[in-house]
Amino acid sequence: MKNPFNKIKITFIALLVLGITLSSFRKENQYSGNENLTKNIQPFTNVIISDTTKKDPETGLIIDENLYMVKAQCTGCHSTKLIMANHFTRDGWKQKIRWMQANHNLWELGDTEKQVLDYLEKNYAPVQMVSRRAPLKDIQWYDLKLK
Ligand code: HEC
Repeated sequence: MKNPFNKIKITFIALLVLGITLSSFRKENQYSGNENLTKNIQPFTNVIISDTTKKDPETGLIIDENLYMVKAQCTGCHSTKLIMANHFTRDGWKQKIRWMQANHNLWELGDTEKQVLDYLEKNYAPVQMVSRRAPLKDIQWYDLKLK
């Protein structure tokens, strides 16, 4: 190690190794940071859709045996959010389909219309708002005895 350049070389290599180590460490941190971000978002979305129904990860639609047909017929033109945001009776859904057929070039669904309507009627029917329980009947009041 008499050559003074050796010292410089070693210092240089040491710094290089340190740099590589640090940069890979930083990437790891950034990654876990992103993971934390999604972890933080996850519980929130879980609250919104916290029920026992399973959602299709691709479309967000409720999973059942006719979903494949809805995916085939209803996802070509617009987001499935338009479907999820709506709740109609079977007849209401039929009217929507007719409306799209009349105005937006939706094709004839033929035999598959039944499957699509079965699906929509079952999973996207009008929601009933339950705001409070029915009043109690035949209440047996008792005297509250204070001492
Ligand atoms: C050929 C294209 C096309 C296909 C396929 C299609 N739609 Fe649509 N749909 C449209 C257009 C265009 C609109 C209007 C979008 C807008 O208002 O931005 C629309 C709107 C809607 C809306 C919103 C209606 C409203 O009142 O705002 C619903 C619900 C809907 N579609 C459901 C479906 C369902 C269910 C299917 C499967 C049977 C389907 N769509 C397939 C073109 C299509």
